[in-house]
Amino acid sequence: TPRVFSGIQPTGNLHLGNYLGALKRFVDWQARDAETIYCMVDLHAITVWQDPADLQKSTRELCAGFIAAGLDPENSILINQSQVPEHAQLAWVFNCVARMGWMQRMTQFKDKAGKNAQNASLGLFAYPALMAADILVYHATHVPVGEDQKQHLELTRDIATKFNHDYGVDFFPITEPVIEGAGTRVMSLRDGSKKMSKSDVSDASRINLTDDADTIAKKIRKAKTDPDALPSEVAGLSDRAEAKNLVNIFAALNNQSVEEVLADVGGKQFSEFKPMLAELAVAKMSPITTEMARLMEHQDEIDKILARGAERARAITAPILRQTYDIIGMVPPV
Ligand code: TYM
Repeated sequence: TPRVFSGIQPTGNLHLGNYLGALKRFVDWQARDAETIYCMVDLHAITVWQDPADLQKSTRELCAGFIAAGLDPENSILINQSQVPEHAQLAWVFNCVARMGWMQRMTQFKDKAGKNAQNASLGLFAYPALMAADILVYHATHVPVGEDQKQHLELTRDIATKFNHDYGVDFFPITEPVIEGAGTRVMSLRDGSKKMSKSDVSDASRINLTDDADTIAKKIRKAKTDPDALPSEVAGLSDRAEAKNLVNIFAALNNQSVEEVLADVGGKQFSEFKPMLAELAVAKMSPITTEMARLMEHQDEIDKILARGAERARAITAPILRQTYDIIGMVPPV
């Protein structure tokens, strides 16, 4: 059976991109014959400074979001990264396997570090090695993510390959990135060439999981579009980034292919399509928002779920870390 692992950073609000590109697909994997492990990556979050109280709140909120979206803590293992120490321990080993040159090529580092890379944290630079450790400390086989994580997953494969080669073992699996469906690259509602992101200064560019129905409808109504009607074939979207994005969002929310959506809505104007999309988005998202708020009133239960998740996770990670240490020549404790 596949072993699925993925993670999300607990930094502020979840948006529609996180939901369609990641969370919704986590739920789909849970329904299959697979072992599923999902992580709030608080150690990744602190690669840029986080207010401690906000980080704690966001981590619990993210856990509430996971459950509200349909992840069942009895079925999936839900964990907070810092509570499973083997992630950070294996990351150190991978820091010694990965090459500086590999890290320098990471586009996310270049984007996040900006012009003054000398002032970025060492952790931000090493970020993808920790991500590789998250995955490989479980010997995970499948990693569902959005398109923007593709390069990090290629690096994970490089690290596994180099480790196996350097120590002459066949120990770490070469993981499959799973980037599929219409929601793996949700774009900004204001600019079809930019991805929807937490860090965009314009709140109108994204739909947050915490937005109420009126806000969602308003953001979709104001979303940038072109004046033409919707095409009835996929090829008709090729140079219409904004139109393509709204159709992709509709398809992903409604579990349809883009072809199926266009078969229904081809020929319609945006004045007609946007209210349909708003209605669908509200129908799919507001139950999650409501449930999240309810769960946040039971923080002690969230904390218990995370403690139980960590315990289940460590039954997997502790032996894999020990085997790794044996391979590289660390004297075991007696
Ligand atoms: P993060 O927290 O930036 O994003 C979480 C997930 O949401 C996806 N995503 C999107 N998908 C579609 N459209 C968008 N606009 C969009 N924006 C974000 C991301 O691709 C991701 O799947 N490094 C990771 C977290 C991580 C991880 C891991 C993931 C840490 N360790 C191990 C997988 C396996 C990150 O920062 O995601």
